[in-house]
Amino acid sequence: MSNQPRRQGPPSGGPGGPKMVGKPVSVNKNTVKRLLSYFSNYKLHMILVFVFIITSAVASVMASLFLQTLIDGYVTPMLGANSSVGFSDLAMALVKMGCLYVCGALSGLFYSRIMASVSQGILKKIRDKMFAHMQTLPIKYFDSHNFGDTMSHYTNDTDSLRQMLAQSVPQAMSSIVTIVSVFFSMLRQSVWLTLIVIAFLFIIFKAMGFIGGKSSKYFVKQQKSVADVNSYIEEMVNGQKVVKVFCYEDKSKAEFDRRNNELFNNMRKANSYGNIVGPVMNNLGYILYVILAIVGGLLAIKSIPNLSLTAGINTLTLGTIASFLTLSRSFVQPISQVSQQINAIAMAMAGAERIFALIDEAPEADDGYVTLVNAKYDADGNITESEERTGQWAWKHPHSDGTLEYIPLKGNVVLDDVDFAYVEGKTVLHNVSLYAEPGQKVAFVGATGAGKTTITNLINRFYDIADGKIRYDGININKIKKADLRRSMGIVLQDVNLFTGTVMENIRYGKLDATDEECIAAAKLANADGFIRMLPQGYNTVLEGDGSGLSQGQRQLISIARAAVADPPVMILDEATSSIDTRTEAIVQSGMDALMKGRTVFVIAHRLSTVQNSDVIMVLEQGRIIERGSHEKLIAEKGKYYQLYTGAFELE
Ligand SMILES: Nc1ncnc2c1ncn2[C@@H]1O[C@H](COP(=O)(O)OP(=O)(O)O)[C@@H](O)[C@H]1O
Ligand SMILES: [Mg+2]
Repeated sequence: MSNQPRRQGPPSGGPGGPKMVGKPVSVNKNTVKRLLSYFSNYKLHMILVFVFIITSAVASVMASLFLQTLIDGYVTPMLGANSSVGFSDLAMALVKMGCLYVCGALSGLFYSRIMASVSQGILKKIRDKMFAHMQTLPIKYFDSHNFGDTMSHYTNDTDSLRQMLAQSVPQAMSSIVTIVSVFFSMLRQSVWLTLIVIAFLFIIFKAMGFIGGKSSKYFVKQQKSVADVNSYIEEMVNGQKVVKVFCYEDKSKAEFDRRNNELFNNMRKANSYGNIVGPVMNNLGYILYVILAIVGGLLAIKSIPNLSLTAGINTLTLGTIASFLTLSRSFVQPISQVSQQINAIAMAMAGAERIFALIDEAPEADDGYVTLVNAKYDADGNITESEERTGQWAWKHPHSDGTLEYIPLKGNVVLDDVDFAYVEGKTVLHNVSLYAEPGQKVAFVGATGAGKTTITNLINRFYDIADGKIRYDGININKIKKADLRRSMGIVLQDVNLFTGTVMENIRYGKLDATDEECIAAAKLANADGFIRMLPQGYNTVLEGDGSGLSQGQRQLISIARAAVADPPVMILDEATSSIDTRTEAIVQSGMDALMKGRTVFVIAHRLSTVQNSDVIMVLEQGRIIERGSHEKLIAEKGKYYQLYTGAFELE
């Protein structure tokens, strides 16, 4: 069991090295319990593993003990003059001993194999659970947890868990069984020699504690340096363009060298101490071996005349000494390993705690009970629910008195005195009231940070409002099931996310059951059809790396087509055209106009030319609507909008 598990934690012989004393290992009981619950499907496997672990440990102890029988019962008598023991007896005994070793080795092999498949199964389950749960988390979670941290739950944390499940736990169990059984076997062989072993172990621990303490300081530094270097690499890779544009290469390299150097120094120090551990341990082990051999030999040949201690215990045979020597080696080894394993386990438990913390994150709450259904109108104009796609939608609103009400989906949105804060105490929106009749186009203009995006975040309930009401077709949006609410809106954001897949698949994201024809029609509506057909494989061109082969504007057009294919009554366009140049925008604009026709549209735009034809323009300043009205009205008022408008004119 000398195969050292590869892991990101302490290198062998670090503070995780042979150091039983010192740093207390804290393991949360609940985490252990939860982890154990994942084993529930593997009860039989675990029983087998347990049996094999015990078999393997006991077999190796028995083989060591058998050495005594072998020597005292066969070899020594055979050396005698008139021996009744023949070679065939010895051969039989050797075969028996061989069987014990083979049995131990096979058991070791079996439990490793079983644990490997059990741990992979458990990890698969955990990853599935984590990902499924992540999909239920509110946007708020992703605001406060960065990508790297979330990612590390899937990589580092699960990997240390795998190390623990597949290696550390079974090895620790095996070590403990071995230690206990060897200890009692040694005691049975010779109390005095056992005492020598214990005394020696005490010295070894002192030495290891000293070395471990020295290296643990550098080990902590090493971990920090690793993180430092990694995060720097990530930042620089992501910001390559900025690095190049500002000719920051040399500076960036210098900074990397500095961090890399620090990593080198800390790693060197941590490991130079750590690397002493192995040799020291080995050599001390040999010294112990020699001492045991000498003392054992002395005891055996009863040549300590004046030592009264030996009275009554000087009955050691050659076989006893040989088997004791073997036992002592298999005693020291697992003891030095078990502390490493415990450390690996503690580290994995920390990872498990982080994983469970993610799984425990409160999912996005949804108390909505009003759902969106396909609607059919009968001759009298009454709405009934339909299984098929009718192209018409209605809100199904069950009332507390047991009656059902169907309300046609129109796209009427009303905000009534809404206050909102992302962070408690820092109100971002103050008393925002507005209404949008179905088919109306409402524009938000205002400086960066005024709260335009925030309003749209509230309408689709990425966040919940602190005070006030938002109604959708007369229904409080808190009563509407979130998925249905969002299904009824199309959203085009400034930051486009395209997924790996064909252009067609990316457009179909808007409505998963859309036919190819519908997707192409949507692309035509968004004026994306032209450039898509110019792509090497047209609609079947595979996009990779967030559509990095496309221009910003082309990516935006695809995202507009994606919103169009859903054909929702409400559209939110948040700076959707700001990354498109003015000439392309003119082309897109006609597509956008087609897209907006007959829908309630909330549009946020940088260029005021895009919003001029809106039914109403809201001017926001620091979370308050300070002006509202049509373009003409606002111009005539000569207020903030007028300033912005004339300012924008000068810019263009
Ligand atoms: N996720 C967030 N967490 C905390 N504050 C935020 C968050 N998003 C935006 N804000 C803050 O809310 C204010 C309004 O932002 P936003 O609505 O995005 O402005 P914009 O009008 O440019 O779209 C800003 O002061 C911004 O700092
Ligand atoms: Mg914004």
